[in-house]
Amino acid sequence: MINKQADLMNKIVSLCKRRGFVFPSSEIYGGIQGFWDYGPLGVELKNNIKQNWWKSMVQSRQDVIGIDAAIIMNPTVWDVSGHTSAFTDPLVECKSCHHRFREDHLKENKCPDCGGLFSEPKNFNLLTEVYIGSTEEGKKKAYLRGEITQGVFVNFKNVVDSTRIKIPFGIAQIGKAFRNEITPGNFTFRSREFEQMELEYFIKPDEKTGNEVFEYWKKKRLDWYLSLDIRKENLRFRKHEDDERAHYARKAEDIEYKAPFGWSEFEGIHHRGDYDLKNHKLTYKDNETGEEYTPWVIETSGGVDRTALFFIIDAYREDDKRSWLAFSPKLAPCKIAVFPLLKNKKELVEKADSVYKELKKDFATAWDERGNIGKRYYAQDEIGTPWCVTIDFDTLKDNTVTVRDRDTAKQERIKTDELKQYFAKKLKI
Ligand code: GAP
Repeated sequence: MINKQADLMNKIVSLCKRRGFVFPSSEIYGGIQGFWDYGPLGVELKNNIKQNWWKSMVQSRQDVIGIDAAIIMNPTVWDVSGHTSAFTDPLVECKSCHHRFREDHLKENKCPDCGGLFSEPKNFNLLTEVYIGSTEEGKKKAYLRGEITQGVFVNFKNVVDSTRIKIPFGIAQIGKAFRNEITPGNFTFRSREFEQMELEYFIKPDEKTGNEVFEYWKKKRLDWYLSLDIRKENLRFRKHEDDERAHYARKAEDIEYKAPFGWSEFEGIHHRGDYDLKNHKLTYKDNETGEEYTPWVIETSGGVDRTALFFIIDAYREDDKRSWLAFSPKLAPCKIAVFPLLKNKKELVEKADSVYKELKKDFATAWDERGNIGKRYYAQDEIGTPWCVTIDFDTLKDNTVTVRDRDTAKQERIKTDELKQYFAKKLKI
């Protein structure tokens, strides 16, 4: 079983590299641990994830608005938020080979690399330092943000004043975060640079409301993953124990995914209470009642990279003939591929080209004329393209094309002038 899971992970990593989803960062210089580059298909997948998230969390709601804050902030933010003191993981070092590990991730109390003994654990701060300024003497220490969240809190007043939005409401954001992880690993799962998609939802302080809103967002977030066709049996909630909760959280639950390397955190739902706004000395005034208070915050915090990784893993299928990614069409990097049956028949190529150009105006559409049709199908299956359109000799006679479905491999004939409608219906747009 363990070998089967490791084998699956190897297949995923190799597929991602070979087909242009994810590459090791700066690979020609030996790479750099914990950093990854997204290739042509990876960037499309991530963009689709972010667009779907933004639509569901911001654009389709009246009570949520978005912002896009800077990555580097005044360093005082991180003192006040508690990150410079409490954003730590327990680090141990092997006394023999000097390899470093996260103590809470170790199964045994000896070095997995050489069997050596460990040093006493110390708290290792995860914030990544940077230096800003043009002169050596004038350079000031700052941090790459360890969570995107603080950018929302420090703009709380700006948002309220500029929009007049009333509590309860949420501020959403998507952006890069950086953590100097002790042990990055499991491909992109634990990276040092990654993207988060977060909602901070502000409510009037009240235990009952806090618990209800927490449960509401738990369900919403689970439903979002399910709406993108992830397998339900691979998701679960896990409550954080008192000793593992982040320094800001009163209560926390993770949505976990059953990854080949075990159940793993997908997204965190946190009840942050008044921790952040109180520390930043920010309050909210209800203009109708005149009441002033420090709102509580319920947070949903997901990772774009983990979503991309887990959706690729979840979509991976293989049989004795082919492997395919059964992505939801909403997430598939390429929705349609268009082929002329033969590349050396001018009439077929010209007709296929006109179909391709027409579809490309509305859908992410690829062109392929290499090899035989079977090979082209398998190449598109491997990257999760839901539909392939073939222009053949019948097309020239009756203006119909073959549309082949990725998951069932079934084919049907569709009129070329109905193709747009056909795909729009399938994509529910
Ligand atoms: N603002 C709250 C916060 O940052 P978190 O549980 O530390 O909470 C939220 O992180 C999400 O960010 C995680 O569930 C995960 O999806 C993503 N994430 C965190 N650390 C990550 C890492 N090192 N690599 C990739 N994604 C990460």
